Amino acid sequence: MATVLSEKQIAQLKRRVKETPHPREMVLDVLHAIQDANGWVSDEGVELAAIILGLSPLQVEEIATFYDKIYRCPVGRKVIHVCDSICCWSRGGEALMLRLQQLLGIAPGETTADGMFTLLPTCCLGACGEAPAVRIGKTLYGQVALEQLESILDSER
Ligand code: FES
Repeated sequence: MATVLSEKQIAQLKRRVKETPHPREMVLDVLHAIQDANGWVSDEGVELAAIILGLSPLQVEEIATFYDKIYRCPVGRKVIHVCDSICCWSRGGEALMLRLQQLLGIAPGETTADGMFTLLPTCCLGACGEAPAVRIGKTLYGQVALEQLESILDSER
């Protein structure tokens, strides 16, 4: 799959990289721009990011694979991140993950057959006070109860 970023987007990103003291500070911004345009970051996307940043593909890859919000393989239209860090885990996060697997018929890391949802465990979503937390696409759900999951999924379809 070709990596889609317009010449204008590439020029804007290159300009921002030039204004930044250390190109590594811009790696996530560039990867997110590529991901927003393509849904995920392919090997080609990593190479494009490296060119924009003036870094080696390996330097970009190290950062891309460290962050679980950068997808290095194709994902569904919406990614469901279930927090499995300590606050959420101790307040029922594991049960939420199991119920979502049941409702969607997929295991963690998989995508539903209709391409709608990808289910992923994730580290802290930064909403520990709202544990257990789940993020679907760009929407964060806090204090999620098991019985809410079905209607949340319906509202996200
Ligand atoms: Fe789940 Fe922080 S531990 S949001």
